Amino acid sequence: MFITLEGPEGSGKTTAVEKAVTRLEEMGYQIVRTREPGGTPISEQIRNVILDKENTKMDPRTEALLYAASRRQHLVEKVWPAIKEGKIVICDRYLDSSLAYQGGARGLGIDNILNINSFATEGTFPDLTLLFDIDPEIGLQRISANASREVNRLDLEKLDFHKKVRNTFLELAKQYPDRYVIIDASQSRDDVARATIEAILSRLCK
Ligand code: TYD
Repeated sequence: MFITLEGPEGSGKTTAVEKAVTRLEEMGYQIVRTREPGGTPISEQIRNVILDKENTKMDPRTEALLYAASRRQHLVEKVWPAIKEGKIVICDRYLDSSLAYQGGARGLGIDNILNINSFATEGTFPDLTLLFDIDPEIGLQRISANASREVNRLDLEKLDFHKKVRNTFLELAKQYPDRYVIIDASQSRDDVARATIEAILSRLCK
């Protein structure tokens, strides 16, 4: 089982899933928590290049290729082996982030991003994608209120960029209704955590 967490900045997806992981582990499931870009030493090195605030000259296609390269390495080293061992992989961001950020907001087009990612992923799609949906104005406010979170190159984009990210995610949810569940991330933390657990359990019991 491969579960991915998606959403605009400041959606609280990482915190929301912590409770779900504890609950699933108590039920005896073996969970691997990971994130993109990153999750393995090589992918973390690629992450540093992508998110470095100094890299203002990065070309959009270079950005898209680096995300895909990081993804490939992470699949090979971490995701595929864990799935083979019967574990549940829960990954913070995956392919849909590339579709929303590079395809939608950067304007490279969904089809172009699907093409480079089909080479990188060999067609690995998540079984379940939880979209933590939030108005980017609220999400960005949450980030700036959170002093412990380091601001990265993508966070520095204008509000309009983040609105495009959100709208593309919502379009993707319509396009892939079988794997997408939308969670209203503007609710209280407890409600978001509850909705997250419910969505995962109902997929596991399918
Ligand atoms: P991160 O600090 O992990 O963000 P968050 O906590 O919001 O998940 O930074 C990852 C950034 O990279 C985030 O702004 C989303 C962006 N991103 C893409 O643009 N394309 C991608 O394919 C992925 C995986 C992430």
